[in-house]
Amino acid sequence: ALITLRQLLDHAAENGYGVPAFNINNMEQGLAILRAAAATDAPVILQASRGARSYAGDVMLRHMVQALAETHPDIPIVLHQDHGNNDATCLSAIRHGFTSVMMDGSLEEDMKTPASYDYNVETTRRVSAAAHAVGASVEGELGVLGSLETGEAGEEDGSGAEGKLSRDQLLTDPDQAVDFVARTKCDALAIACGTSHGAYKFSRKPDGEILSMATIARIHEKLPGTHLVMHGSSSVPQALQDLINAHGGEMPQTYGVPVEEIEKGIRMGVRKVNIDTDCRMAMTGQFRKVAAEKPAEFDPRKFLVPAMKELEDLCRDRFERFGTAGQA
Ligand code: G3H
Ligand code: 13P
Ligand code: NA
Ligand code: ZN
Repeated sequence: ALITLRQLLDHAAENGYGVPAFNINNMEQGLAILRAAAATDAPVILQASRGARSYAGDVMLRHMVQALAETHPDIPIVLHQDHGNNDATCLSAIRHGFTSVMMDGSLEEDMKTPASYDYNVETTRRVSAAAHAVGASVEGELGVLGSLETGEAGEEDGSGAEGKLSRDQLLTDPDQAVDFVARTKCDALAIACGTSHGAYKFSRKPDGEILSMATIARIHEKLPGTHLVMHGSSSVPQALQDLINAHGGEMPQTYGVPVEEIEKGIRMGVRKVNIDTDCRMAMTGQFRKVAAEKPAEFDPRKFLVPAMKELEDLCRDRFERFGTAGQA
């Protein structure tokens, strides 16, 4: 059944686990994620970006997630708007059956210009009041996602600040976080700690200089009752880079967020862990493998079945390692 983010993360906090939030654009991703959730008895967050909503369409997304819920009646599912950029995006998502929205006021509506603190508070507070009035949950974001190595947001296509960012912007300030949560009444808070969207997060295996888990610890100390969210949490597994590159891919060597760092985060109040890139790489790795090994193949299902299996395996691993398994 569909539940709200608040309901799920309250349960996660009480029981000390984290929940992966997987991005979804199409049926095959939904099938694979829910098969993994069912196999491990895990609740799940399915999130749709603005791009996903325009790719699949709101009506399709709503019915798709309803169908997944009907297929897996024992699995609690949150349908969440990822990176909402204004009131209209968030409120239309709720109208279309989303039980939770992210109002990302860390950036202005264009999702490129870092926003002022006052803009962020005011926008998030307004969306929060409207969403709560109809029983939906809200995630806010304080701090700007981007690399501490380069000062850049990383992602060229999707949401991401333009121009150089300062260390100050890239690490959420704990005192400001206390004020932000009190004033906006958001249900969950996305923080910035050096992660960025996409595959190219770090040029080396991250240490405390470029992935600041200490920032999360400091925020959790001041806000022990607030559900924290880590964006840009793909691990960009070496095995998936190798799978892609062994079959004609040309992804330059890169490093993501090690799963053990996320496990550390979960012990420090991280409850929602956003993962999209790893899921993309899992499917694409198998598409490339089938295309390379079976050049005569033209039935899409012959590509999609192994791609779903690779994604299911990835999701199962995250459910197990984040402690979500067995919590449905
Ligand atoms: O925040 C970015 C997510 O990975 C969604 O990406 O906007 O390309 O769907 P997208
Ligand atoms: P990744 O690009 O690391 O998968 O992050 C996804 C994300 O944060 C979606 O909001
Ligand atoms: Na989100
Ligand atoms: Zn994100």
